[in-house]
Amino acid sequence: MITVNFNPQFDAAKMSSILQELKSDPMGGWIELPKKIDMDEVARIKAAAKKINEDSEYLVCIGIGGSYLGHRAIIEALRPDSGLKIIYAGKSLSRRELEYTLNKVGDRDFSINVISKSGTTLETSIAFAAFKDKLIKKYGPEEAKGRIYATTDAHHGSLHDETVNNGYTRFVVPDNIGGRYSVLTAVGLLPMAVAGVDIDGFIAGALAATTEAVEPAIKYAWMRYTMAMNKYDTEVFASFEPFSEYFNEWLKQLFGESEGKNGQGIWPASVVYSTDLHSLGQFMQEGRRNLWETIIDYPTDEMNKKVVCAVMRAHTAGGIPVLSIGVPSYDARGFGELIYFFELSCAMSAKLLGVDPFTQPGVEAYKNELKKLIQQ
Ligand code: PA5
Repeated sequence: MITVNFNPQFDAAKMSSILQELKSDPMGGWIELPKKIDMDEVARIKAAAKKINEDSEYLVCIGIGGSYLGHRAIIEALRPDSGLKIIYAGKSLSRRELEYTLNKVGDRDFSINVISKSGTTLETSIAFAAFKDKLIKKYGPEEAKGRIYATTDAHHGSLHDETVNNGYTRFVVPDNIGGRYSVLTAVGLLPMAVAGVDIDGFIAGALAATTEAVEPAIKYAWMRYTMAMNKYDTEVFASFEPFSEYFNEWLKQLFGESEGKNGQGIWPASVVYSTDLHSLGQFMQEGRRNLWETIIDYPTDEMNKKVVCAVMRAHTAGGIPVLSIGVPSYDARGFGELIYFFELSCAMSAKLLGVDPFTQPGVEAYKNELKKLIQQ
């Protein structure tokens, strides 16, 4: 069970009405999802994962933002060894990075999991075109189709249309779940299953969290709101496990895209200790006091526990409010709980700040400018 080391006096009526609002939001489908997991879909995911492991050395996961950060966070944190390697593409527009990933796969057997809810994201489309071309050159057009797994909208988008027309193996991102809240759909489950993560354990953790993590999530959302109201505008997520670096990246995206709008939001930053104690530690201890620290306290070894304790004492003495979130177990189940806990806290926290957690209108601004430049 997720635990927290703070106990704020929150407005219970307000939090209960926020929870109800979220549940009836057209994009709130992820809240009840752990209770409604379609086991036939999970069986299809497992079958696809088995086939990919049998016929491929690499799975190229193509997607950006909410279409890749969640599963990468879990895979990197747990590092299971299914024998197959996952490689990520389409998470930037760098030609250098794309060529590196293409060369990394080289002549080896591979399959593609292209993930895009909209089916129109530029980064994803460019990387998909490059890897599809490689697939066709290696296997010919027919076999290539059997090695493409597409996770996209049920009805719309060019990726949807291409998938249906070519008979790629298709998984759906439900209408009522957006990218950054989609880890528990095929978006996250397929790459995790391919990598060898225990997805049943992950689902079980999220399911347990639908009851057990609600109160801790309310307390955490309320603490964040209190911090924001007291002019603490930066939250530093701190972990002591180097493998959880991508979990921090997922957190930053979740909170940044959900809260940062209408001039609102808390800037989400992250550190991994003890590595960053030797770089950002100085700033944490003695720098500008506009930030607080949220420790994600994974079960860890004795030495690392001492570091957690030392950091809490030192930073508190240095004038930083330190919150701590206790993770029950460092396994798929623990991460299932943690993902649900943060999704729920984040959506409630955004509501407390008066913004819609499920939109990202600001992301369009750079896309429009890019479109203009490309047309020129
Ligand atoms: O969380 C989100 O909604 C975004 O980060 C999207 O996941 C990201 O922009 C990619 O979008 P799409 O899945 O449509 O390619």
